Amino acid sequence: MQSTLWWQAGILYEIYPRSFQDSNGDGIGDLRGIAERLDYLADLGIKGVWIAPFYPSPMADFGYDISNYSNVDPIFGTLADFDALLAAIHTRGLKLILDFVPNHTSDQHPWFLESRSSLTSPKRDWYLWRDPAPDGGPPNNWVSNFGGSGWTKDGSQYYYHSFLRQQPDLNWRNPEVRKAMFDVLRFWLDRGVDGFRVDVMWMMIKDSQFRDNPINPASTPETSASARYLALYNTNRPEVHEIVTQMRAVLDSFGDRLLIGELYLPFEQLVTYYGVGLKGAQLPFNFHLMQSAWNAQAIAEIITNYEADLPAGAWPNWVVGNHDQPRIASRVGTGLARIAAMLLLTLRGTPTMYYGEEIGMTDVPIPVNEVQDPAEKNEPGKGQGRDPERTPMQWNSGPGAGFTTGKPWLRLSASFDEVNVATLTHQKDSILNLYRELIQLRNENAALNSGRIEGVTALDTVLRYERVDDLGRFLIVLNFAGTPVSVAMPSRAAVLSTHLDQPGDSNLRPYEGRIFQL
Ligand code: GLC
Ligand code: CA
Repeated sequence: MQSTLWWQAGILYEIYPRSFQDSNGDGIGDLRGIAERLDYLADLGIKGVWIAPFYPSPMADFGYDISNYSNVDPIFGTLADFDALLAAIHTRGLKLILDFVPNHTSDQHPWFLESRSSLTSPKRDWYLWRDPAPDGGPPNNWVSNFGGSGWTKDGSQYYYHSFLRQQPDLNWRNPEVRKAMFDVLRFWLDRGVDGFRVDVMWMMIKDSQFRDNPINPASTPETSASARYLALYNTNRPEVHEIVTQMRAVLDSFGDRLLIGELYLPFEQLVTYYGVGLKGAQLPFNFHLMQSAWNAQAIAEIITNYEADLPAGAWPNWVVGNHDQPRIASRVGTGLARIAAMLLLTLRGTPTMYYGEEIGMTDVPIPVNEVQDPAEKNEPGKGQGRDPERTPMQWNSGPGAGFTTGKPWLRLSASFDEVNVATLTHQKDSILNLYRELIQLRNENAALNSGRIEGVTALDTVLRYERVDDLGRFLIVLNFAGTPVSVAMPSRAAVLSTHLDQPGDSNLRPYEGRIFQL
């Protein structure tokens, strides 16, 4: 059997850098702040840290609008801070994954400034410029994911942006763009980073004929602008796979590195991003648990369909939260959040945690006058805003929750005095201690971190499956209901229950999960 790699057995952890730890009192998290918290992360037992963008940016989309790919924004620190952070991560045996945003730059990036400066600029073709439609309007019906047309007129032509007008899309058909962007990968790989999470991987290249998208028959006037059309011609084009393969080749030329893709796609399309001969992304993000109904049947179906669609040798992965989606504890409730933890950490495949999940952080309602996210500002009240899941990490019950000595850039949760790392550490049955135990159990047992999955079944409110390798076999039984249920279980004691402080009996309590070693 092929030996297990670090990104297969290990757990990944996403940090939204504005909100993890502030080191200088300006209310915004930074790289030195992350360095201060590395012992916490190492102790938690995760393996790879993914940090969302910290590059120079006008912050129209909080760092996903990059004006220089090869530096650190002064808000977050300096390149020297970055090098120190990377060294400190490696000293602890951890790995660092950066966010790579290839689809678009900031409109303040020198490439775009040059591109827009004239129709004959050598960089004109680096972006997607088109003549107006005959009526003078946008060249086609493609909309922005943040609302409105995806086209903005600048001079005599329009340029396309999948997101804000401050985020013009690059033209990945242009070989100079490819070279420049692969050089960015090399810049960070040379410094020693262990991999990249590629932003909107499935959007990187568009239809060469710029055909109109069809109307989404399922849309209503209430749905967001981007949901009104089926994104047939501006996303998931066949030519994207050539780019992914080229990115992977750049990473492979540096040895043991990891390529992750952000991909919101049905399984049969998602798995194509592993690439021919598995030479694409090693981990095309699987977001299906973030979008599914939360009951035993729906989740059994997801597991079974995903496992069935995986190409031979492809390694699965699971995510229950990220900086773009409502937090799991808000979506499913605090009882099921414990089941989500057990599920995420016992399924076959690399788990990616989002900071704060381990303390059961919930979405924080943001008053209208404090909204920061452009997705909410552009389409108010349509549920597009992402501020609620991006609030500062809750470290302790002191002022600023231990996140900052200043005024946090986004308000803290009203319950931070109870829901925080310090307080929950001392509560034996807290969700934090459940995460710690689950992570430890997973890290110590190869069957759980790299074994097979067998016997996935849903019966009424209970989901069960086994994780198996040559050395061991574990049974996982999860009750998705808020009522007790009597189910057939081994007579021995469980090695771990979601209800840490309670002795096991033959009934599963409301929202109880148990792990048995068989
Ligand atoms: C990705 C990011 C999201 C960002 C968007 C545009 O979906 O995760 O936060 O707004 O791309 O870069
Ligand atoms: Ca700061």
